[in-house]
Amino acid sequence: MERSEKLILVVSGTLMGVFLLLLVYSGLGLGVVVPTCITDVRPFTQGRVEQRGPRQYDVYLVSRMWFFDPGEIRLPPGSEVNLYLSALDVTHGAYIEGTNVNLMAVPGSVNFARFRLEGEGVYRVLCHEYCGLGHQNMAGKIIITREAAAAPGAELVAGAR
Ligand code: CUA
Repeated sequence: MERSEKLILVVSGTLMGVFLLLLVYSGLGLGVVVPTCITDVRPFTQGRVEQRGPRQYDVYLVSRMWFFDPGEIRLPPGSEVNLYLSALDVTHGAYIEGTNVNLMAVPGSVNFARFRLEGEGVYRVLCHEYCGLGHQNMAGKIIITREAAAAPGAELVAGAR
């Protein structure tokens, strides 16, 4: 190997080492974070229900193989719901029985629907997009009950699967 070839190898190897060290330093030392997908950050990574006003709720519904999070949501009659639907793994769907709400849950995106649920009862949330072996059992439910209105704060928490 000629001297010039050795020199090129040493210089390029050293440069690669320096770049690698700078990469590690920027990540660990300076805390630089690469921008990520909107569904990889809160509030879209975990299902939850937030009360926005009297009978107004924001529902963050996360679909995964093979359940919805939260799996059970209790709201008082007449609730207006802002539904934010996301998916953490594959494409799912969400159809709310007895309503015209029918959304796709596509990884990397958030789908939105606003609707009102008047009558008491159980509204099943059904996955309508084939998403794997457990697809046929993937369902959640929204329970419209006066008890949700009678117990202040109870409707703020929904985490049961
Ligand atoms: Cu989720 Cu089908």
